[in-house]
Formats: sequence, C-alpha cells, structure tokens
Amino acid sequence: MIDIRHQLFKHVIGLSMNFHEKEPVGKTMTRFLSDASALNDFLTNQVANVVHDVVSGLVVLALMFAINPGLTLIALFMLPILAAISLYMRPRLHNGWELVSASSTKFNIFLAENIAGMRIIQQFAREAVNLKQFHRANDTLVTEWMKVINLQAWFSPLVEITRGAALVIVVFTAARQLGLGGDTLTVGTLLAFTVYINNLWGPIGTLTNMNVVMQATLTSASKVFSLLDSQPTVTDAPNAIGLDRVSGRITFEDVNFGYSLHKLVLHNINLTVEPGELIALVGQTGSGKTTIVSLLCRFYDVTSGTIAVDQHDVRQVTQASLRQQIGVVLQEPFIFPAPTANNIR
Ligand SMILES: Nc1ncnc2c1ncn2[C@@H]1O[C@H](COP(=O)(O)OP(=O)(O)OP(=O)(O)O)[C@@H](O)[C@H]1O
Ligand SMILES: [Mg+2]
Repeated sequence: MIDIRHQLFKHVIGLSMNFHEKEPVGKTMTRFLSDASALNDFLTNQVANVVHDVVSGLVVLALMFAINPGLTLIALFMLPILAAISLYMRPRLHNGWELVSASSTKFNIFLAENIAGMRIIQQFAREAVNLKQFHRANDTLVTEWMKVINLQAWFSPLVEITRGAALVIVVFTAARQLGLGGDTLTVGTLLAFTVYINNLWGPIGTLTNMNVVMQATLTSASKVFSLLDSQPTVTDAPNAIGLDRVSGRITFEDVNFGYSLHKLVLHNINLTVEPGELIALVGQTGSGKTTIVSLLCRFYDVTSGTIAVDQHDVRQVTQASLRQQIGVVLQEPFIFPAPTANNIR
C-alpha cells in the first residue's frame, strides 16, 4: 500500500503544471484514496487467499480422483456451469465498476471544489443550489454502487446452489450404484465424497469471489496505471546543468507561447531585464503577465524563441536550480499546514 501511494505521489509531484492545472484535485485524490487502496487490498488479501485455496483445492481434487475418478467427474459436473455464468457476468461487472468509478470520481471532484470554494459559495449565497447538486452526485454514486452490489450478490447463492447440486448428484449416483450391488463403490467412498465436495467448494467459492472482486480491482488498476503513465511535458534536458548563483540578467528573445498549440497567448516577446533593475509588467487582465513569469520559471516551455537567465537558456539548466534562484510573492498567499518556520524555508 505504502509503496503504491509512494510511487503515485512521487510521480504526481513530478508532473508539469499543465497536468495540475487541467486535472481536478478530486480526481487525483480518488486515485490515491480509493484506487490505490483497492489495488493494495487485492494484492495483499485476495492474492494470498488464492494461493492457499488453489493448493488446497488441488489436493482435495487429487484425493477425489484417486478414490473414484468416475464419481469425481460427476461431482464436477456443475463447475462448467458456474464458470460460464461467471464469464457471462464478468463484462457486466466490469461495466458496473467503471460506472461506479466515474461517478465516485465526479463526486470527489465536486466535494473537493466545493470545500475549497466555500467562500465563493457563501459569498454568492449558493448553499441551496450546491446542496441540490451534492444530492444529485451522491444519489448517482449510490445508485451505481447498488447496481454493482446487486450483481455481485448473485454469486454467493450461486456457489451454494452448485455445491448443493453436486452433493445431490453424487449421492444420487452413488446410491443407485450401491442399490444395484456394484462392487466399485462403498458407503465409505460416498461419505468421503460428501466431505470432499464441501472442502472443494470452499476454494471454488473463494476463486469465484476473487473473479468478482477482480473486476473492481482492474478498474482501479487501470486508473492508477494511466496516471503513472502520464508523462511530464517539461523535463530536464539530459545534459542540463545546475544553475549557480546568478546575477539576474533575464532575456526573452522572439518568444511565442500558447497554452494550446492553436492559440498563441504571447506573440514575439523581446525583453531584457538587467541585474538589479526593477520593472513592472502592466497590462489588461489576460494580457499575459502571469504567463511571462510562468515561462521564466519554466512551468511551461516556449512554443518558439528563447528565455535565458545570465545567458543560460532555461531549457539547458535543471528546473530545481532555476526555481531556487527565483523569489515569488503570490497574489493569493498559500500557507502549508505546517509550522511557520517550515513555510518560510
Ligand atoms: N493554465 C492556462 N491554460 C490555458 N489558458 C490560460 C492558462 N492561464 C492563462 N491562460 C490564458 O492565457 C492568457 C494570459 O493569461 P495570464 O494569466 O498570463 O494573464 P495576466 O496578464 O496575468 O492576467 P491578470 O491580470 O488577470 O492576472 C489569457 O487569455 C488566459 O485566459
Ligand atoms: Mg496574472
């Protein structure tokens, strides 16, 4: 568990700003809180059970075959039916879990945004509206959960029915043979078989249950892995150097930039700031002031042109060494929930 979450956070903390600005916080949180937990639970609990159950199931099966192969095959008659039903249900369960995952992600996004934006909600007296939206998101989540739980609920009785059917068939067949006075079967064999069938159906129940649980786990795993597969768009060049203490000469040369390829935000920016020079960028809202600072910190890469600090192209130095040299005072201060000293450091 710790390892999956550790890997996930290590990955997420290294993803570029375009990911963090695009992806809702609630979505990323869902990967940590539900998906990583589901994956871990499966790996630690289910997989351990399966190894134990497969081994004990095989032992029982071997004993049954050794005593009476014919009767064993008759006892196993119900298994293909159970397997066929499991296979038939598998895509339905999978779809069900996909829907649960989608609505739980939506629910968490809603919750995270509402809690973070509580000031705005209260400022605009939106409590009643948002409460209604919350009910809707919650209802959808519960409905999808119930659908998939209802589907899953079929499996336990199904396993019991096949166990009962196997017992009935075996007892019936054996009783007939005993009645006919055949010498291939004894009362002892029949008794042993009733015990073995019960023993065999324990592992069969666990395996069937695992197939059911696995559908939820596969959904979670695919979400976790697709997050782990997303790559940072801004990376350190292989030969990037650590930037030593700079004097602070900043140059923008023919810089073009757009957050998306088809819409440029900055057109042909040329700018030189000498060390110690104090300048203010003034412009209409949305004109690109913050964008210029983001590019200087290399939160994004320019579409074309060059940005340099002390003659070093920002793409040729490590991101960490570049940002360590830049002091930023944000419009909205952000305080980490940690001691003041740690916030300053
Ligand atoms: N993360 C982003 N993704 C897509 N577009 C963005 C993003 N951030 C800013 N923009 C767009 O880029 C343009 C420049 O925005 P920017 O935030 O740099 O302006 P600004 O001059 O800092 O404005 P303000 O005075 O409001 O702070 C705007 O059209 C804005 O909508
Ligand atoms: Mg701004």
